[in-house]
Amino acid sequence: MNLKGKDFLKILDFSPEELEFLLDLAADLKKKKKNGIPHRLCEGKNVALIFEKTSTRTRCSFEVAAHDLGMGCTYLDSSGSQIGKKESIADTARVLSGMFDGIEYRGFGQERVEELAKYALVPVWNGLTDESHPTQILADFLTIFEHYGHLKGINFVYMGDARFNMGNSLMAGCAKMGMNFTVCAPKEYFPEKALRTECAAIAEKTGATLNFTESVDEALAGADVVYTDVWVSMGEPEEVWAERIRALSPYQVNGELMKKAKPTAIFMHCLPAYHDRKTAVGKEMGEKFGREAMEVTDEVFESEQSLVFQEAENRMHTIKAVMAATLCDF
Ligand code: CP
Ligand code: NVA
Repeated sequence: MNLKGKDFLKILDFSPEELEFLLDLAADLKKKKKNGIPHRLCEGKNVALIFEKTSTRTRCSFEVAAHDLGMGCTYLDSSGSQIGKKESIADTARVLSGMFDGIEYRGFGQERVEELAKYALVPVWNGLTDESHPTQILADFLTIFEHYGHLKGINFVYMGDARFNMGNSLMAGCAKMGMNFTVCAPKEYFPEKALRTECAAIAEKTGATLNFTESVDEALAGADVVYTDVWVSMGEPEEVWAERIRALSPYQVNGELMKKAKPTAIFMHCLPAYHDRKTAVGKEMGEKFGREAMEVTDEVFESEQSLVFQEAENRMHTIKAVMAATLCDF
């Protein structure tokens, strides 16, 4: 498998074999890290990390992974750099290509990361756009693999707004890896038709199934993984909270709902999550709408079934695999 020089922009750009290779590499690098075995595979290289939206997991993952691989890294955001205001994406891409061996980008439309990749002479990695969050999918799948020992045939249920980055990318990932993917939400929150059609064609080949239902009972019967994401994503206006709470409350992952899945089911969330009022937004919206939690209750979030922190750690191991695979020969 040779991914050297390749960008990592969205899950659909990769074959099941390539995704499997990245997951195997991540598992191997994780083992090395846990056993204190150095793995400075990219010694002497440098990467640029561009964040036009905030981040905890993704930024830390890229930074720690870069250090572990022997690389230097530079963080850039829109307030402290020329990006966006005084310099175009295309010009930024060419400037950074002269100094760095790889570029991470987190921002708004997918077209921005695609534009960056078009003009960059080095690999570009998507650290989240409105439409796509591909590195998160690798972390999620590594976590599922660690728990179940396989991906094929896993009954994966996504509860909530599936039109944004997480719903789109999880659907693409499940289709690629032969999993049974169900979206459970009001039908206005299903992923876009064109993407569903594209993923259905992939599913035909891999043996995956894609289901879209408004029924919680139907979706959760036999579920191995129950996944949710925030109801309001970064960059969306505050005014959408009211509509989201009204439409998505029946799909909140709570104790009663988890009982409808297999007793052995796991709970997953890309994080950050509004599972209590201990955040500024959680408190403000919680008080405004009279709710203790939004997409997941504290009971489920803190339960034995919840693998969210293992999943968060796996962001680092999988991002490390993406950088190593696209910067080095294997
Ligand atoms: N899951 C995720 O991407 O988290 P951050 O926004 O903290 O990077
Ligand atoms: N859908 C969320 C994912 C955060 C990791 C957002 O875009 O804010």
